[in-house]
Amino acid sequence: MSGGLFITLEGGEGAGKSTQQRRLATLVTGMGRRVLLTREPGGSPGAEAIRSLLLDPRHGDLDAETQALLFAAARRDHMRVAIRPALRRGKVVICDRFVDSTRAYQGAGGALSPALIRRLEWIAVGRKMPDLTLVLDIDPALGLRRALVRAGSETADPFEARTLDFHHRVREAFLAIARAEPQRCVVIDAAREPEHVFEDIRRVVAARLARP
Ligand code: TYD
Repeated sequence: MSGGLFITLEGGEGAGKSTQQRRLATLVTGMGRRVLLTREPGGSPGAEAIRSLLLDPRHGDLDAETQALLFAAARRDHMRVAIRPALRRGKVVICDRFVDSTRAYQGAGGALSPALIRRLEWIAVGRKMPDLTLVLDIDPALGLRRALVRAGSETADPFEARTLDFHHRVREAFLAIARAEPQRCVVIDAAREPEHVFEDIRRVVAARLARP
């Protein structure tokens, strides 16, 4: 049996992660691999309960520390209940957002200390970092416009509702992570048509799956 592979999709609002995630799942399944499609915050019953709390607009005033603790708690449960067991069974795990979102949103966006972020990462994830992280990069002005169109009349969650300056810091943080960890991260220009974005993703993932 082939070993599991842990792929994460990261990026700002409106980068098209969910669409690309679904297409990627179809592709990988077609290559004969079993897939776990999952997301953060969420992905296990306990983590989904924490998700509803975090994304409820009524809790928009939680500070970055409180948010980071809750994201980490959700992530630890998600790893224990869903991700680690799937990887042990040889599945390809495709997760919409993971630790880099905490580094970018709470770290760069919310000015949380890197030391606290590392400590929480260790508690939530331990040694098992993603094998491959696709950073879908988009200008926040364009991404937020797309996210608004998608949401229609729904109220923005507490993260979408932040200032444009916050979203610029988040974008720069994702790009800095990718520069610092080039073995794990690949930046994909997500401002293009979804077909072209997917073509790049297909190429990167096929190469990664072909590796022994
Ligand atoms: P979601 O509806 O899943 O948004 P998206 O479609 O943009 O992925 O909401 C997740 C929100 O939570 C998103 O705005 C980013 C934020 N977030 C953090 O701030 N820190 C984290 O660690 C994670 C996983 C998400």
